[in-house]
Amino acid sequence: MVERTLILVKPDGVQRGLIGEVISRFERRGLKLVAMKFMLPTESILAKHYEAHINKGFYPGLVSYLTSGPVVAMVWEGWDAIKACRLTIGDTHANEAPAGTIRGDLAIHISRNIVHGSADANDAAREVPIWFSDDELISYERATELWITRPD
Ligand code: RTP
Ligand code: MG
Repeated sequence: MVERTLILVKPDGVQRGLIGEVISRFERRGLKLVAMKFMLPTESILAKHYEAHINKGFYPGLVSYLTSGPVVAMVWEGWDAIKACRLTIGDTHANEAPAGTIRGDLAIHISRNIVHGSADANDAAREVPIWFSDDELISYERATELWITRPD
């Protein structure tokens, strides 16, 4: 099934000059970019995005990390996109993420793990509208589509 998933390049990814590297991995995988913005996340957007973590001990540190600088928020679309992106990103514990994944190649610690990707279909459906309005999601045809998936 064709899905959409929310991806963030977190402030460490921006500061370390890894925006292009992260985008390139999703692009080369065959995913299609449908929305992108460069922005400073507010505490209120993060409270919605990370509502499942609000009562956890790491939440204050997580918010100060995510508000410490700009992020790149994106929506990527493709076949089984949510799982495909999570596998491309690698384990939350960056020190355990396999080589070849974004975190496994570019990060070492859970608290600075470069990228966010929606965990499942429920999270993707909940997260995308937190960061983007409907009119910011661009539907378009790619000339390369049939070289990436077969028609349904
Ligand atoms: P994300 O939501 O950012 O894609 O990461 P995830 O699903 O792989 O991990 P999740 O459990 O949702 O945690 C969200 C983010 O919170 C930070 N975190 N720090 N013990 C800790 O210090 C800790 N645990 C989680 C990480 O930035 C993680 O990505
Ligand atoms: Mg998560």
